[in-house]
Amino acid sequence: MPSASAVSRTRPSFATWLGTTNDITRTFLSAGGVPGLINMGGGLPEPGTFPVPEIARLAGEAVKAHPGQVLGYGPIEGLPELRDALAKRFSTPTTRLSRDNVFVTSGGMQGLDLLGKVLLDEGGLVAGQFPTYLGALDAWRPRQPAFRNMELDDPAFDAHVALAGAQFAYAVPNFSNPTGRMVPLATRKALVAAAHCTGTWLVEDDPYGLLQYDGEPLPRLIDISALGSDGTTYTGPVIYMGTLSKEIAPGLRIGWVIAEPEMIMALTMAKQGSDLCTSGLTQHIALAALEAGLIDRIQPLLLSTYRARRDALCDAMRTELGGWFEWEVPVGGMFVWAIARDPALDTDLLLHHALEAGVCVSPSSVFDAAGRNRRAIRINFTLNEPDRLAEGVRRLAEALVTMQARKP
Ligand SMILES: Cc1ncc(COP(=O)(O)O)c(C=O)c1O
Repeated sequence: MPSASAVSRTRPSFATWLGTTNDITRTFLSAGGVPGLINMGGGLPEPGTFPVPEIARLAGEAVKAHPGQVLGYGPIEGLPELRDALAKRFSTPTTRLSRDNVFVTSGGMQGLDLLGKVLLDEGGLVAGQFPTYLGALDAWRPRQPAFRNMELDDPAFDAHVALAGAQFAYAVPNFSNPTGRMVPLATRKALVAAAHCTGTWLVEDDPYGLLQYDGEPLPRLIDISALGSDGTTYTGPVIYMGTLSKEIAPGLRIGWVIAEPEMIMALTMAKQGSDLCTSGLTQHIALAALEAGLIDRIQPLLLSTYRARRDALCDAMRTELGGWFEWEVPVGGMFVWAIARDPALDTDLLLHHALEAGVCVSPSSVFDAAGRNRRAIRINFTLNEPDRLAEGVRRLAEALVTMQARKP
């Protein structure tokens, strides 16, 4: 029998995937608590846009009117009335959706996590839009997948080659996280055609679709996929995901997956082993909010606030960062993606200096499964007021100068 001291020297270990991850999201979410730091790192909304009195009223009404559903366990797939309301919201004359196509999740992140569980084998292949949302990389990391990067802006991109053999493909077609870009219509059509032809699931993650500041929206992949179908419940390979996080408030933790019914069943099995059900309270709030048209009511405020902040950020960047970076002004979403003019500039190192200067941005390495892309930064413009965005950019410029000066 080993002595007590011998036992205490044997340290219990963690699963190996933990050694391959990073805690950058934790940094963004806790940055609000760091005195004086300007957080332009996370995809955080402006709390002043949250419809506080309406949510407080809807919460109170829900508890009183439906105490059993709000405070008890509920169906794994989600509150039936909320599933119906979401089916109605996303149905079109050609995309016919019923309750069986809809699955409620605890935030969009849970949808990504459960999709990894039902679609990915250990070491399986994901065809991911590059650069890729870091939350998706985080969600799938425990399966240690292989990634095939899809560079959707590359004129030579071949959707068929990209999707063939992958366990699924993943894209954020509207105002991608991190680049803020919109996937053009021809590429959307090519992705959907390739998904049908190769029999590959195509995950369309769409948290930012309503946050469009200029121009016209493009059709969703799921709507392109449903064109020409027989007019019954959707059965195609596109898996559409949405969330109330950017439309109302992330604290509700309400998201959804819209897909063919067998996929909804598979997700139900996975959620059974995860959190059993999404909060009945916030599902009832979401249902009442949809019925009352709350999203439509607050959208003008979101758009005017964020459009002005995007412009303020880009103006400040033109003055302070034009010599260092190039970028496109995004037509929607929450981010500007800035690529260093100097290919040798290391944005992991820049983050270190930026934090010292009192500003946080996201380095491009965290949006690359291989962690190799160190030439760009993602800058959020939704959380801070224009003056603070300008000050954040000034601090970033200061960090760049310090970094250059300290170069060995
Ligand atoms: C592309 C993308 N997908 C999913 C999410 C998850 O959002 P939530 O879990 O808050 O619904 C986010 C959040 O920033 C995102 O940017």
